[in-house]
Amino acid sequence: MATEQVDQRDSKQVYDKAAKDFRSKAPELLTYKYIVRPSLEKAMDEHFTGDRGALSVLDIGSASGRNVNTLIEEGFKAENILGVEISPEQVKIAKSEIPEASFEVGDISAHKLAPERNDLAIMVMVAEFLDKDKYPQALDNILSSMKPGGVFVCVTTHPKRYEAKYGAKEGSAEVTTRGPWSEDKFSNYVRSVDEQKKAFKEAGFVVEEVEELRIPDEVDEEDRQRRAEFTLPEPYARLTIIAKRPETTTTTAA
Ligand SMILES: C[S@@+](CC[C@H](N)C(=O)[O-])C[C@H]1O[C@@H](n2cnc3c(N)ncnc32)[C@H](O)[C@@H]1O
Repeated sequence: MATEQVDQRDSKQVYDKAAKDFRSKAPELLTYKYIVRPSLEKAMDEHFTGDRGALSVLDIGSASGRNVNTLIEEGFKAENILGVEISPEQVKIAKSEIPEASFEVGDISAHKLAPERNDLAIMVMVAEFLDKDKYPQALDNILSSMKPGGVFVCVTTHPKRYEAKYGAKEGSAEVTTRGPWSEDKFSNYVRSVDEQKKAFKEAGFVVEEVEELRIPDEVDEEDRQRRAEFTLPEPYARLTIIAKRPETTTTTAA
């Protein structure tokens, strides 16, 4: 059977093709288990101490619903969660597996979002798929979808990981990479921590916390082989930026 060719810069094509593999492997990945999910949980514990049942949440690049399931397990109500995802194949899976939540097919840099809806927005492992035009457009769009005081948690590949693996330096460099769920390659865009903080501020967010995350040395027996792949000179694997829409921001009508 001929292998279907995809444009590695086109996330819709890349993730439509990878939809089933991503669905089956993503929730158990080493990085998700040891650092991404704990970082999300920590951010929620710091910012949402009361009843989470009535809060509105946006999951950006929601794929097949890995983080929507985490949000539900953490006390947010499926009915109040909206996922926006560029790959229709993944949205199909998410809708069938989590019918109580809402999912829309869309590109976060342009998708129309209800203004001032969200108490919380999360964007996990998606920023690196946004090129130099889409990244600031996405941040602007996310900001206007947040309630004043709303919290935005962005988890992304740490730029030092690209440097360690590919020698990629800062300056929005493009690298060709792949995920542990399939052999297919795709483009990622590398930004330094400072570039990311600056872009958040330019969009109108107040950056509250920056967490540089590394995989712990000790992992469960079944994860040791994959852990060895993270033994690079540069230890950081993921980056979490927690930001808020200021209480006083007003969005300018287009
Ligand atoms: C590495 S996956 C992460 C998925 C999910 N956030 C998670 O943590 O399970 C990246 C996701 O971002 C989506 N994506 C990429 N560019 C996007 C865009 N411009 N708008 C919406 N989704 C996008 C991809 O289709 C893919 O599902």
